[in-house]
Amino acid sequence: MLDFDKLLEERILRLPESRVRDAMQYSLMAGGKRIRPALLYAVVEGYGADRSIADEYACALEMIHTYSLIHDDLPAMDNDDLRRGRPTCHKQFDEATAILAGDGLLTYAPMLTLQSKCSAETICKCTKILLDMAGAAGMVLGQCLDMKEETGVTDWEALKEVHRNKTGCLLSAPLMIGAVLCGHEEDAEKWHSVGITAGLAFQIQDDIFDVRLTPEEFGKSTSDTGNDKVTSVTLLGIENAEDMMNRLYDEAEEAVRSMEDFNQKPLLKLITDIRERRK
Ligand code: IPE
Ligand code: IPE
Ligand code: MG
Ligand code: MG
Ligand code: MG
Repeated sequence: MLDFDKLLEERILRLPESRVRDAMQYSLMAGGKRIRPALLYAVVEGYGADRSIADEYACALEMIHTYSLIHDDLPAMDNDDLRRGRPTCHKQFDEATAILAGDGLLTYAPMLTLQSKCSAETICKCTKILLDMAGAAGMVLGQCLDMKEETGVTDWEALKEVHRNKTGCLLSAPLMIGAVLCGHEEDAEKWHSVGITAGLAFQIQDDIFDVRLTPEEFGKSTSDTGNDKVTSVTLLGIENAEDMMNRLYDEAEEAVRSMEDFNQKPLLKLITDIRERRK
């Protein structure tokens, strides 16, 4: 088990035993790439701080991300059966429990951040970023725009706005929080922009995998086509989508390289690993 997974599980097991705790643990511990915590730790390392200062935020980010996946898979949203190589939360448990597992993860996350080993002022700033990026001005807004009944997205500019919110915001949050935790609030805006750019690239890549991979290979349902989703692949075509993804990853890497007084290596290595992954 990864050290980070131990941190996560230990925090979940602090909660009283219940069916909702079981469902939270089931989805959280199913694996996943842990990209958001990894981004946070890479920024903290880049600023030369001790990575343990970021532990509560790393767990909180993964919990909020996992909640977003549990709700994203529900019948009312993408209606998917497979996630992280396992039946989705509502398939393994039931819909009510899956909704509550999401609620439980979302509310537990800021509880954890309040216990971070840093000043109250830093906690306020970082938790504000986390909730802002996760909520109805960020990921939740993106998920709302993603429901085609709500919007009828038909062009690339509109889809970019969806992707920036639903995916970019939760990649910006760890980068920004890492900067603030390390006392570099002045860099937060730059990190916001890096996260949004990387997030757009990451969502295009996810859309491409959705058509290229089988559910077994991808570890999750590939339902975009069946759901009639407007995606970067349907709007741009797969080759243009790939070009766009590469341009955006290049842009994100360039922006990281322009960060001064910051060891860029761990973050650039992580972005390369994300970019070059095969599933
Ligand atoms: C899936 O995120 C949802 C998207 C934003 C595309 P990840 O690809 O990071 O999912 P896990 O955490 O590895 O399962
Ligand atoms: C959802 O995008 C991103 C979230 C905010 C959960 P997708 O619907 O494409 O994510 P997957 O493919 O189900 O992981
Ligand atoms: Mg979705
Ligand atoms: Mg989905
Ligand atoms: Mg997808």
